[in-house]
Parts: sequence; structure tokens; C-alpha cells
Amino acid sequence: MRINAKTKFIVIIGDPVDHSLSPAIHNGGYKKLGIDNQFVYLGSNVKVTDVKKVVEAMRVMKNFRGLTCTVPHKIEILKYLDWIDPIAKKIGAVNTVVNEDGFLKGYNTDWYGAIIPLEKITKLSGKRVAVIGAGGAARAIVYGLILKEAKVKIFNRTKEKAISLAKEFNCQGGGLEEQEEIKNFDIVINATSVGMKPFDNQSPITTFYLNKKQIVFDIVYSPLKTMFLKAAEEKGAKIIYGTEMLLYQAVPQFELYTGYQAPIETMKGILYKSYEKY
Ligand code: ATR
Repeated sequence: MRINAKTKFIVIIGDPVDHSLSPAIHNGGYKKLGIDNQFVYLGSNVKVTDVKKVVEAMRVMKNFRGLTCTVPHKIEILKYLDWIDPIAKKIGAVNTVVNEDGFLKGYNTDWYGAIIPLEKITKLSGKRVAVIGAGGAARAIVYGLILKEAKVKIFNRTKEKAISLAKEFNCQGGGLEEQEEIKNFDIVINATSVGMKPFDNQSPITTFYLNKKQIVFDIVYSPLKTMFLKAAEEKGAKIIYGTEMLLYQAVPQFELYTGYQAPIETMKGILYKSYEKY
């Protein structure tokens, strides 16, 4: 055990958070870089109504270096921070808080988590992207896609929400009844929680409109291969697992917390290994 009184700690909070793979990914990265005496990453179940108390603790505990927030804490935390990165402000959520000697800075790395796995296999500029869902996850994804100059249309069960989000980000929006259009899109992203265990026999849209020319990405990572991704793969589409978003949102986070470049391959290995036990 290399932890001592000077070790800085980072905590992921959520309700629940017990199954989070973030501690394994980050601690594995610290170990790889030999900085596991300087940093340790923990998890704690915290009710959303107690987020303010955690922030107060951070202000007085200078070794409390960072905080990772899951849904809905990532929205609640906005009101308690000293500074919010303009990107996080635009997205309307903070998943990463850095404690600079009691001064609390908020960032959002979710958009990066969605964009990097796509950019690894395609150029986004000019691509037609269908985003299914108009909640918090969709907001971060749409932000990244617009930044990369993709042509986005948001499809949502509640059409009004799609239209209002689309207006904010200067793209298109519509209801799920328009989903036939999806056959003409280059990239299709499920940004809803539909298909997540224990409802893993569900798909956010009919898979009839998926085809082999497309890249299909699901933010759901439990199960690894959702029904939506299975169907896409059967049609010959290129698929991206939700675990990729989990990995790549952790990369800038690692750097913000520690100041060190994240050892991505090590973190990826740990993620997929922990996943087998998950
Ligand atoms: P998050 O912050 O995780 O994105 P959210 O803000 O609750 O969660 O958003 C969930 C998204 O999933 C919404 O777009 C929601 O559609 P509505 O706006 O119509 O509620 C979508 N969603 C959830 N369950 C769904 C279902 N069974 N079918 C289609 N869309 C669903």
C-alpha cells in the first residue's frame, strides 16, 4: 500500500454508484504511471440532496482533489461551484470537479467521450448523424457533434424536447414517428437508456432502418452488446460499444485530476477486464 497522508483522493458520487468501473480504470492508470502514492480514486453513494455537503467537504479538505458526478448529480452540482468551464455551461452539466486549494472548477468530459470513438473511425465534418434521445447524455453528444461540424438531427419520443434541443444547438429535431429517415444517415447514436439491463430486450427505434453503410453507436454499456448494436451488426453496420464513451470521458478527467497524460491502453485493458466480472 503506497497511500499516505499526502495522497490526494478523487471520489465518484452517484445513487447508486457501487457498480461504477471508474475507480478500477483510474486507479489502474495511477499504478501504471507509478503515481498510486499521489492519487487514489474512490466511490461513494451520495443522495442528490446531499451534493452540497460533499462540496462543502471539498472546500475544507484540500487533499480532496476531484469529484466525478453521475446523473442527476451532474446537474445539481452546477449551483455550488466557483467556476464552470464554458463547454460544461453550454451542455448544462458538470461530470468533473477539480479542487484547486478550495477553489472548485467544473468541467464536462462526456462530449469528448462520445466524439473520440467516432473520430477514430470517421471524419465527422459534413456527416449526417441521427441522435436518438434529448436528455442530458444527448446534450453532451450533440454539443460535440456540432463542434465537429456534423449535420445532426435529434429524434426523440417527446418531439417537443427534440425540437427545443435542436433549436439550442442549431440543428434539426423531430419525433420517433420520423425514424424512417434514419436509413439515410451515416451515423446513428442511441443517447437514451433504452436497452439497459434489466430491459435489455428493448431497442430505442425499430432496427429496420439500420444498414451496412452506417456507424451505429450505443451509449448503453450494460449489456456490452445491446439489442440495438446486435441488430446493427447483423445488418453489417460498424458498431461502437458504450464502453468506449466510458473510457474516453475518463481520459481528459484523468489529466484534469492528476496533470499526467492518461495511459489509455492500460485503462482500456482494465475496463474490458473488469467488464467480464461486471
Ligand atoms: P439522461 O440524462 O441519462 O440522458 P434523461 O434526461 O432522463 O436521461 O433522458 C432520457 C432520454 O431517453 C429522453 O430523451 C427520453 O425521451 P423523452 O424525452 O420522451 O422522455 C428517452 N427515453 C427514455 N425511455 C424511453 C423509451 N422507452 N423510448 C424512447 N425514448 C426513451
